[in-house]
Amino acid sequence: MTDLVAITGASSGLGLALARSVPFPAHVVDISRSGPPEDSGIAHFPADLSDPGDWGGVGDELHRLIVENDARRSVLIHAAGTLTPIGFAGEVDSIAYTSNVLLNSAAGQVLGHRFLAALAGRVGSHDLVMISSGAASSVYAGWSSYGAGKAALDQWVRNVGAEQKERGGVRISAVAPGVLATAMQTEIRSAATRDFPEIDRFHDLHEHGDLIDPDVAARQIWAAIEGGIETGSVIDIRRLS
Ligand SMILES: NC(=O)c1ccc[n+]([C@@H]2O[C@H](COP(=O)([O-])OP(=O)(O)OC[C@H]3O[C@@H](n4cnc5c(N)ncnc54)[C@H](OP(=O)(O)O)[C@@H]3O)[C@@H](O)[C@H]2O)c1
Repeated sequence: MTDLVAITGASSGLGLALARSVPFPAHVVDISRSGPPEDSGIAHFPADLSDPGDWGGVGDELHRLIVENDARRSVLIHAAGTLTPIGFAGEVDSIAYTSNVLLNSAAGQVLGHRFLAALAGRVGSHDLVMISSGAASSVYAGWSSYGAGKAALDQWVRNVGAEQKERGGVRISAVAPGVLATAMQTEIRSAATRDFPEIDRFHDLHEHGDLIDPDVAARQIWAAIEGGIETGSVIDIRRLS
């Protein structure tokens, strides 16, 4: 029996920080395109989660890992996400926009469904955590499909949380981590004002040292998970601290 932690987007940023700070002994696997650093001890399952053709293989791998490890404690954290393409709907590249919708909105729902299906009938303590964002409820011109994707995940968590209270018993939550010092923020600061009119606010946060270290956010998120987030909850980690 080995506990299992699977994290999408653990090749960098918050996902990598979460993978590095798992607070119990576990088999830890990243699901991303590029993979974690080689010396990290984190396993890698390669997948482009903006490609629906890759979702079935990821679902099969989650099932295989749960069965082979006979996992009594398992956690899936969906941290993969993208702002690309920053810009206005109707103006940005259509292929990039479609990839954004598929990754931010759809992939988490389908992988969440596959994780729950893999856990059906298994005893133990299991968590499914969607990494959300303040952009799920605040309006940002230039981030339309990103914000819509996070709002979709939040509502999925509320609905599936209600289902798991009926039967299943997997804890389901969405956690917004705050504004983090990661590659995503670097991308924001490199946007054109025309594509992202609120850019000055993010330059200010950076210049004033107000970005949160992803290692700090990861520790807070694990503390919340280990403390037992009520199933179906959508929370902002800054309000818990
Ligand atoms: N940074 C912030 O201020 C902030 C604020 C609120 C919420 N968040 C959320 O926190 C999460 C992590 O973001 P971050 O700031 O750590 O960004 P990041 O450093 O850019 O990391 C993004 C991660 O997502 C993965 N990813 C992107 N596209 C993918 C694809 N098509 N298929 C598979 N994996 C993909 C990347 O892996 P590969 O490139 O290797 O595929 C990478 O591991 C995201 O869900 C983001 O929305 C961030």
